[in-house]
Amino acid sequence: MVSKLFDETEIARRVEELAREIAVAVAGDFAIVGLLTGSFVFVADLIRVLDRAGLAPRIEFMKLSSYGHGKESSGAPRLIGGAPEDVAGRRFLLVDDIVDTGRTLDYAKSLLAGKGAARVWTCALVDKPSRRKIDFAADFVGFTVDDVFIVGYGIDYAENYRHLPYIGIID
Ligand code: IMP
Ligand code: MG
Repeated sequence: MVSKLFDETEIARRVEELAREIAVAVAGDFAIVGLLTGSFVFVADLIRVLDRAGLAPRIEFMKLSSYGHGKESSGAPRLIGGAPEDVAGRRFLLVDDIVDTGRTLDYAKSLLAGKGAARVWTCALVDKPSRRKIDFAADFVGFTVDDVFIVGYGIDYAENYRHLPYIGIID
């Protein structure tokens, strides 16, 4: 059963605020790199609000290995598709749906840094600080939640529920 946590209006309002924060901090030329698959709805909404804030980032995606079909992360992330080309000297905003242990965004960030990115900011719609396994903090966070498993707005449980327009807790 899924119980609603953040409805469409709350999400839209928070994404607008985040875009304004990003516009101030990341002014100038940059590319968004969304982490597939969970960030696709968030990225789609974020870029259209960023446009209204006068920002015109290029949009790319990359896919890291992830959860498989359970609720617990399967250890070390690795790249399984779509590494951005032409990274050296460019500025990036990495976007994911959730920061949980912190390993995914931390790995993605070091991957871009290792290819010579000039600057890498990180953004997650939802943060679960109590689940952290490494020392990692995203630069921009939409919502902070406790140790709950969430779905919807692009976020899945075993590939289901991504279509939900709201974010809910599944039990
Ligand atoms: P981390 O590497 O442990 O920080 O995990 C981040 C990834 O785990 C995110 O990209 C999500 O896809 C996934 N994840 C973490 N928590 C949840 C959840 O509550 N629901 C669905 N996916 C989650
Ligand atoms: Mg993910």
